[in-house]
Amino acid sequence: IRIISIFKRDSIQPLHCLFCCVDHLSDTTPATVLVHSDHFDFPYGTTDVMCQIPHNCSATHVTLVPDTMRPTNPTWLPLRNKKIIEKNKRFEFNFTVCISTLFGGYNNVLQFAQTLEIYRLLGVGRVVVYNNSGGPELSRLLHSYSQEGLVELVQWPIHNYLNPSHGWHASEFSGDLQYYGQVTTLNECIYRSMERSRYVLLNDIDEIIMPYQHDSLTSLMDTLQPQHPNTGVFIIQVIIYPKKTAEESNKGYVDAWKQVPGFNILQRIYWEDRNKDQYHPHKMLVQPSFVEQTSIHQVLKAFGESYKIPEKMCHIVHSVTNHPIERPLEELHLDKRLWDFKDRVIPRVTEMLRRAGLLSSEEEADRIN
Ligand SMILES: *[C@@H]1O[C@H](CO)[C@@H](O)[C@H](O)[C@H]1NC(C)=O
Ligand SMILES: *[C@@H]1O[C@H](CO)[C@@H](O)[C@H](O)[C@H]1NC(C)=O
Ligand SMILES: *[C@@H]1O[C@H](CO)[C@@H](O)[C@H](O)[C@H]1NC(C)=O
Repeated sequence: IRIISIFKRDSIQPLHCLFCCVDHLSDTTPATVLVHSDHFDFPYGTTDVMCQIPHNCSATHVTLVPDTMRPTNPTWLPLRNKKIIEKNKRFEFNFTVCISTLFGGYNNVLQFAQTLEIYRLLGVGRVVVYNNSGGPELSRLLHSYSQEGLVELVQWPIHNYLNPSHGWHASEFSGDLQYYGQVTTLNECIYRSMERSRYVLLNDIDEIIMPYQHDSLTSLMDTLQPQHPNTGVFIIQVIIYPKKTAEESNKGYVDAWKQVPGFNILQRIYWEDRNKDQYHPHKMLVQPSFVEQTSIHQVLKAFGESYKIPEKMCHIVHSVTNHPIERPLEELHLDKRLWDFKDRVIPRVTEMLRRAGLLSSEEEADRIN
């Protein structure tokens, strides 16, 4: 068994696993702690605690103990993913998006609601959100979405245990652990989804994995997977759609949303070329049972092959929040792919904002209905 965990990398003590078998407690078995190679030099990192299940134990739960003594008040973790995934299994969801660690009072309500509705149209059945701290309006929206079933909220109060970093690398940012434990939550999300979702998308909320030659992710993967039968990791190019005020982008404006915090991604219709000298990270769409350990831009340990999807077929529409240089229109390219979803997205978003009590008055909702 594998326990996804966080350890201080330079002080890992010897540990043992104690199992709850159906009818008895087991003897302990020794634990091995594997530190994930991507820790970005922070003192704490994601780890896998690996233990053998003892013979003659039909294990249901496990706990970790520092020596071979029985603990007085153990925390029992239930064992998951005991079934082998069959080749033609029917899953509860085709696609799950993992949104790692919402933190710092993030409150971009409009972007979040629009993105969730576009995901839904693309075939996504579940969006797992790890919540450290979202802004008050965004929290209301997420509670509505979780009642309705698209969003699964996982509370992630990591600041009660560690001093999480706001940044990606220890050389530039202080703290115990990279980005509020983003790598840990991504691994947790993959294992959480293994028995119930055919694919898992590892991207941020300001990113949409968008097919350009298919009308949904379902038809994209129904085409690609048979061409790449042994592939479990699909790599996707990120393209930046900066804020650009222009006549054309103004046409994405929706008056009913003017009081709602955040920005309207329907106005993000220009993209910029990549600077060829810079590193441009990718994001991933994976079959969860192919992945053993993941990082943010690549998997660390996986079975099977990887395939980079051609950019013209599918890329990430990244509606960036902060962008240092605003380029002139002549240097940008127009792409109105998001508008293909406009007529279906606008009424759905308005309805969800209304349910969350985020429209300033009922009249505004009525006016556009
Ligand atoms: C497991 O149980 C069987 C039958 O009860 C017994 O013969 C065997 O010795 C046990 N094995 C271990 C490792 O305890
Ligand atoms: C998943 O996709 C298949 C087509 O590949 C479709 O037949 C099925 O209904 C989808 N399942 C869900 C839960 O959307
Ligand atoms: C997210 O966490 C914060 C801080 O614990 C909490 O106040 C807020 O209600 C949570 N939001 C959601 C949607 O769970």
